[in-house]
Amino acid sequence: MGIAVVPVAGLGTRLLPLTKTQPKEMLPVGRKPVVHHIVEELIENDIDQILFITGASKASIENYFDLDETLVNMLRERGKEDLLADLQLDYAPVKYYFTRQRQLLGLGHAVQCASDFITDESFVVALGDSIIQGGDAKLLSRMQTCFDDNACAAVVAFESVPKSEVFRYGIAHPKTGDDVFELEDIVEKPSVENAPSQLAVAARYIFTPAIFDALERITPGAGGELQLTDAIRLLIKEGHTVYGVRLTDDERRFDIGNYASYYRAFVDFALSDPTYGDDLRQYVSELLKGSS
Ligand code: G1P
Repeated sequence: MGIAVVPVAGLGTRLLPLTKTQPKEMLPVGRKPVVHHIVEELIENDIDQILFITGASKASIENYFDLDETLVNMLRERGKEDLLADLQLDYAPVKYYFTRQRQLLGLGHAVQCASDFITDESFVVALGDSIIQGGDAKLLSRMQTCFDDNACAAVVAFESVPKSEVFRYGIAHPKTGDDVFELEDIVEKPSVENAPSQLAVAARYIFTPAIFDALERITPGAGGELQLTDAIRLLIKEGHTVYGVRLTDDERRFDIGNYASYYRAFVDFALSDPTYGDDLRQYVSELLKGSS
């Protein structure tokens, strides 16, 4: 049982022209759009209410989570049980809610749009352009355990990234080198020289409602935007405890925010397709042999 907030309002400009008329969160990764993978991950981790923070031209995300009874009845009448199985997510015990971020003022502002929806419970934030894959799909459950075991205001997922990538992400200043660690500080999109580590925020968070109070008080940061990272930083500065949980070696995060990482995600998922993966593997390896 739990609530997740999924910000999906971003413009996706790094994926133009693909994202000119469709949200990046609806791009296919293997057989499913990005948001489908995310919702499956949330359901596997006991989330039963999902609030999407949407924006202009994101209507296809809302449509995707509608029940299409005409389609279901048609498939049923034609005995297409295999195709009906592909619509299984439509029947998951989860409720969807949508609200609009009416001005694109940054990720911190997007999360703040959820403040009326949350009363006094903790909640998950899962960024709508990142898929977590591998391991036992239980990153969020490990984060919840950390949250339950430590009286903290937030738990943030981190993955190790190359030095050359730190400028793209929120970067941890961890107190220890453990897999679960307390944060000394966190900084959004530092330069390589100023990065306190190579541990990058990996698009999953758990917060208490204390984050909303912090979000009210931050000023525009990196890129002139209201940054969620800056609100977490403020929590730490004001004496709240914030923990980090590292992805395990067999967990991977796919950032669908740029082509390099989107292509990798697509290939990875397509190669593990139960029906076409083996054929594709053979095709790709022949292609690579030919080019070497
Ligand atoms: C956002 C966060 C950043 C985080 C990243 C993960 O950045 O601000 O801290 O590391 O998501 O994908 P954005 O990708 O919106 O620039």
